[in-house]
Amino acid sequence: MCGIVGYVGGQSALDVVVAGLKRLEYRGYDSSGVAVLADGGLAAGKKAGKLVNLEKELVGRPLPAGATGIGHTRWATHGGPTDANAHPHLDNAGRVAVVHNGIIENFAVLRDELAERGHELVSETDTEVVAHLLAESFSSCGDLAESMRLVCRRLEGAFTLVAVHADEPDVVVGARRNSPLVVGVGGGEAFLASDVAAFIAHTRSAIELGQDQVVELRRDEGGSGGVGGAAGVSVTVTDFHGAPAEVRSYRIDWDASAAEKGGYDYFMLKEIAEQPKAVADTLLGRIDSGGSLTLDEVRIPDSVLREVDKVVVVACGTAFHAGMIAKLAIEHWTRIPCETELASEFRYRDPILDSRTLVIAISQSGETMDTLMALRHAREQGAKVLAICNTNGSTISRESDAVLYTHAGPEVAVASTKAFLTQLVACYLVALYLAQVRGSKWGDEVRGVVRELSAISGEVERVLETMEPVRELARSLARKNTVLFLGRHVGYPVALEGALKLKELAYMHAEGFAAGELKHGPIALIEDDLPVVVVVPSPRGRSVLHDKIVSNMQEIRARGARTIVIAEEGDEAVVPYADHLIRIPATPTLLQPLVSTVPLQVFACELATARGNEVDQPRNLAKSVTVE
Ligand code: G6P
Repeated sequence: MCGIVGYVGGQSALDVVVAGLKRLEYRGYDSSGVAVLADGGLAAGKKAGKLVNLEKELVGRPLPAGATGIGHTRWATHGGPTDANAHPHLDNAGRVAVVHNGIIENFAVLRDELAERGHELVSETDTEVVAHLLAESFSSCGDLAESMRLVCRRLEGAFTLVAVHADEPDVVVGARRNSPLVVGVGGGEAFLASDVAAFIAHTRSAIELGQDQVVELRRDEGGSGGVGGAAGVSVTVTDFHGAPAEVRSYRIDWDASAAEKGGYDYFMLKEIAEQPKAVADTLLGRIDSGGSLTLDEVRIPDSVLREVDKVVVVACGTAFHAGMIAKLAIEHWTRIPCETELASEFRYRDPILDSRTLVIAISQSGETMDTLMALRHAREQGAKVLAICNTNGSTISRESDAVLYTHAGPEVAVASTKAFLTQLVACYLVALYLAQVRGSKWGDEVRGVVRELSAISGEVERVLETMEPVRELARSLARKNTVLFLGRHVGYPVALEGALKLKELAYMHAEGFAAGELKHGPIALIEDDLPVVVVVPSPRGRSVLHDKIVSNMQEIRARGARTIVIAEEGDEAVVPYADHLIRIPATPTLLQPLVSTVPLQVFACELATARGNEVDQPRNLAKSVTVE
């Protein structure tokens, strides 16, 4: 939530910062702004709406050229999306500029104190107090990093802050508490950003920052680079009290082109198309030559995994749907009881956890606050936490006992697609690994499923090749108000995911139901020509499930529904009840979501486009939700 960029180097800070913000716009797009240090002063520009509005503004009112700057793209919390509330926020003298992600919970008290001391605050944001507090501290200590430390000690809540001061034209300072911030260094320049996507076009060398740390980037011509720096620029990291902190550098393995649209109209289309590769990449290196699993990253000893007597999966949004499928796989393959819970609900019900509980936290971004709080709670109760995460160095991956990374590459579109499929692959891997370690499946059985998983990437490719009729159907439904989704067993979370995609992108009333629940209420919604998507389980699995859903199709058709049926090739029993039939390849029962979700992603994307909506940046949403 909110994207932040800071830059010190030799290039035009404005160009670097605006290009970085473009990469971070998925984090929020209510307003944006920049500040540049130049000619002994500070110049800022900001504008409500998308980044393009700011770019237009900067053409009409150019900022002076400078090589130190900061920028922000906002997802509004305190104060509406207006020009005045856009970041950066400045002090009254216009010497300090600050951008912020998170919520400063004690801002009201701080604002009253500042007002008493004669400061004039002009926005409704919680952030503005920080600019004024920094200006006050700087006037007594003359050092921006020290001022930041002093101010951070007074703040409550979650925050990433990045600031510049006109009196220190070679310095950018950042701070973080429970909100993301990474450092990039290389080629005589240094970057601060909410996410490495903002600077991978410039450098692949990154530094992780821990909680409650302050980082100073300083242009240091002729210098050796200091701790974690590079020639021409120094990077200094301390805690909030000034004690030097250890830094961990790492290399970003994402390719810069992975964060480009690559000829597609939208990131979402590109990310849907990348799924076969993302699925295959997530399996890479995890299967040994004998076909068994080797999850070296799962640093939880096998002896501990053998003792696990309960698994709890916590996640939000799309990742939660992956977690619902994980439950079915874990219970089926390992016979360990497994619950899947919305991370935002988890800790508030005082869940029963102990050292024999394995908590699996699933998160694409690794920064979702609800999930982070859930895993912290689990660890406090003595449970072991395994994260399934797409973002190296993210907070969730760092705070977990072990991480299994999904190799989806950067996902930019707000609506999750390839991350979901790779989360599923990772969940299957964890479930099978538990089965392998505990012996609840024979070795040949595990190897059999692994073989089937390895073949899925090709099946996803095949699904993608047959999507034109789905797009056509989506366009024909653009004027509908409601679409319902039904599924059973693994098809139920897929139905929920299909409905979520449609809500997020098409802003339609879309609801997913367990098909068996239909008769307990939702069937009252069925009316003439209402589109209902039905995700049909494989007839080769538990035939009773299949037969029941065929009955459900008859029930809704009898009441006028227009059925859009997703069924595997060769399933002829559904044909008489399908107004529209979408074929998917036959897969093992538990693995079906890897192919059945794809048409629903394409459907939502095309329907949203037909309705004239912004596919990559749906209204009101942000990709990385770093507030509770
Ligand atoms: C937001 C996004 C969703 C995502 C969810 C969880 O709500 O809009 O697409 O599924 O957060 O995100 P995470 O990064 O934890 O997977």
